[in-house]
Amino acid sequence: SPAKQQERRDLVFKFLVIGDYGVGKTSIVRRYTEGKFSSNYKLTVGADFCVRSLMWDAKTRVSLQLWDIAGHERFSYMTRVYYKYAIGCAVVFDVTRYSSFNSVNRWVTDLNDKVILDDGRPIPTVLFANKSDIGDSCVSDEAINKLCKELGILCWFKTSAKSDTNIEEGLSRLVQEAINLT
Ligand code: GTP
Ligand code: MG
Repeated sequence: SPAKQQERRDLVFKFLVIGDYGVGKTSIVRRYTEGKFSSNYKLTVGADFCVRSLMWDAKTRVSLQLWDIAGHERFSYMTRVYYKYAIGCAVVFDVTRYSSFNSVNRWVTDLNDKVILDDGRPIPTVLFANKSDIGDSCVSDEAINKLCKELGILCWFKTSAKSDTNIEEGLSRLVQEAINLT
């Protein structure tokens, strides 16, 4: 009925996926949008974006734009324009590469410098400890918890794009945050 249809809402959200080169950003986006994984590494130049549409609940359709930002330093001058209007962010590090964990601070600082919500708050951010399929993390849970607290990151997930672990859960958390902001 027309009354029922009026209750329906279509939401469009733009999320960013950021972090050092090779941590698995493209693999995460690909897993989430296509359900696929490849072991080949093809570095992202500038940025890519992929879309996935989902029924969040009976009356809410969400169209997610995932912006996959190149991690390589030499592309960083281009990122400001890609960050515009983003309303959520997943910061990714590779549990087998400590330097990529060390960079999280810089990525979040840069994010908060480039985009903020209309009310001036930082955009909701989650942290992905990726490649958890490979084995033990070179960073302790305590260290990750501490960093999240310091940087105002909502929560973190042990993820694997390869074995499809927690990608859905992590991005759903961001969708929930974005819906709460509407
Ligand atoms: P840039 O585009 O250079 O910033 O890198 P990226 O963060 O997009 O990394 P990408 O997704 O291209 O992955 C880099 C390499 O790590 C590839 O060989 C992937 O197959 C591999 N990889 C990504 N995610 C995982 C994972 O969860 N587990 C394992 N074992 N390998 C992964
Ligand atoms: Mg990439």
